[in-house]
Amino acid sequence: MKVGFVQFSPVFGQVEDNISRAECFIESVEADLLVLPELFNTGYLITSREEIEKLAEPVPSGITTEALSEMASRRSCYLVAGIAERDDDKIYNSAVCVGPHGFIGAYRKIHLFSEEKNWFSPGNREFQVYDIGVCRIGIMICFDWIFPESMRTLSLKGAHVICHPSNLVLPFCQDAMKTRSLENRVYSITANRTGSEERGDKKLSYTGKSQVMSPEAELIIRSGDDTEEAHAVAIDISKAEKKLLNEYNDLFKDRRPEFYFIP
Ligand code: ACM
Repeated sequence: MKVGFVQFSPVFGQVEDNISRAECFIESVEADLLVLPELFNTGYLITSREEIEKLAEPVPSGITTEALSEMASRRSCYLVAGIAERDDDKIYNSAVCVGPHGFIGAYRKIHLFSEEKNWFSPGNREFQVYDIGVCRIGIMICFDWIFPESMRTLSLKGAHVICHPSNLVLPFCQDAMKTRSLENRVYSITANRTGSEERGDKKLSYTGKSQVMSPEAELIIRSGDDTEEAHAVAIDISKAEKKLLNEYNDLFKDRRPEFYFIP
């Protein structure tokens, strides 16, 4: 199976252009599964509720999910991509999953970061695992990484590959994903954006370094910190089936939840 990511620098508010640019990157690689950044179609640095209300789309009937479904069908692949989702009067920072036969599901970011709390409602659905035939995938978005429970939940639910659309601004995540992948014995694909956004008196710079990490904590591929790139690599899903660290330790069977504190 070949999996990978698209790393690029979307322009705020230019939804159709961002979709077209993403499409060029998707066309440039042969992959079974590709992950795109968080909010890849809208950009990230929101300055008012009104502007994100205009940019958010219903799922799956919005133009972005429809365009992604069409691409997935044409390329015969699976895509996971971050978009702003409108549902009645609520807006979610979501990631949609589409495949060769269309829309599969959407995850709504559970752990909102910083000012996202001003614009989005926190996700109201459980972490979900999708069986795409060759493997099972789970989705979390950017800041979810800092809560080990996110990836643990997806892994305990049977995910082999964690798809992780991101707009990272802090320098910690890419290295931390080594531990997240190791402790859960799963692959992770972090698709980060690059560039910076300056809107009004606000500026954010994104850290790039999109990557694929193995269940054995090997960094299989990492892109540059300020380049636009798309890559896919071959992975062996059987490595994510086995949870054995050595002949004595199975990282799932050895858990002792009766001693863990859940307040
Ligand atoms: C983030 O969650 N976009 C940092």
